[in-house]
Amino acid sequence: MELTDRIVVLSYGRVIAEGDPRAVMREPNVVAAYLGSPMLEVERIRVSYGAAPAISEVSIRIGPGELACVVGPNGAGKTTLINAIAGLHSIEAGALRLDGRDLSRLPRHAFCGEGIAIVPRGGGSLRA
Ligand SMILES: Nc1ncnc2c1ncn2[C@@H]1O[C@H](COP(=O)(O)OP(=O)(O)OP(=O)(O)O)[C@@H](O)[C@H]1O
Ligand SMILES: [Mg+2]
Repeated sequence: MELTDRIVVLSYGRVIAEGDPRAVMREPNVVAAYLGSPMLEVERIRVSYGAAPAISEVSIRIGPGELACVVGPNGAGKTTLINAIAGLHSIEAGALRLDGRDLSRLPRHAFCGEGIAIVPRGGGSLRA
């Protein structure tokens, strides 16, 4: 990448992108050709409680059939992130996509219909 002036990307025998290396490597069809299309994409989301920011600039990509785990110390933002993915918090900035469909402006009740649900931990607590 350091030495290249121009890049041409082939996929299944066809040119799918061409041009400046850094710009080409960011193109979604190039990323998909290399990594496969993600099922769930969280892109630089921000969620706050009133004026207090809880998470910001959080990005995660999860592929089909993949099991992902989010870890972090108390107060890191795990529950806020999971609740935002499930539609329980509004996403102030960034994007949330499932199979390429933008969910970030979807009303809360529509998330289940999209196939997103929270399975609470044992003990009957609803905290994630
Ligand atoms: N209802 C709320 N009102 C205001 N701030 C909140 C609220 N819930 C969480 N926060 C704040 O948002 C940030 C992220 O908290 P969150 O509960 O998402 O963290 P967590 O990683 O799930 O923590 P834990 O491991 O304790 O479950 C923390 O600074 C927390 O104090
Ligand atoms: Mg939590």
